Amino acid sequence: MNQSTITRCVAALLLGGAVLATGAQAVAPAEILAGYSAQAGAPPSPARGQQLFNTRHGGEWSCASCHGAAPTQAGKHASTGKAIGALAPAFNAERFTDLARTDKWFRRNCNDVMGRECTYAEKADVLSWLLALKP
Ligand code: HEC
Repeated sequence: MNQSTITRCVAALLLGGAVLATGAQAVAPAEILAGYSAQAGAPPSPARGQQLFNTRHGGEWSCASCHGAAPTQAGKHASTGKAIGALAPAFNAERFTDLARTDKWFRRNCNDVMGRECTYAEKADVLSWLLALKP
């Protein structure tokens, strides 16, 4: 291999990596759900997800406090009053399309509401309920 072949190979590898990196972020909500369910090792329950979402877990807030009891419409942050776009994917195409973002907010919000992280089973339950909400 001469110098220019090596340069071209490196460029191709970098480009391939960039394509993979962007590709990895754009996922469908159903894929995220499949991942959580696989980790949980059990099928999700939309009814359990709805209950988790609308229950206060011994604290001041439920998930619904910020997202609304039916998260098919924009919610409102319980302390700052800032608008939060609808959480149900059928009403907001951006939802659950970026695993890192979804995980970050699950971690943060479950901690705020339940004082701990949600389990994979709980995340699968909530997401399966949100996916069942249709116009
Ligand atoms: C104190 C207000 C608040 C509470 C309570 C809250 N959230 Fe959120 N949530 C937010 C904000 C703010 C965002 C990020 C802004 C946005 O995405 O519009 C967010 C985003 C999310 C996302 C990101 C979805 C995505 O992929 O785009 C998920 C999932 C989520 N919340 C789930 C929950 C669950 C489950 C609970 C209850 C355990 C909960 N939230 C409780 C404020 C809250």
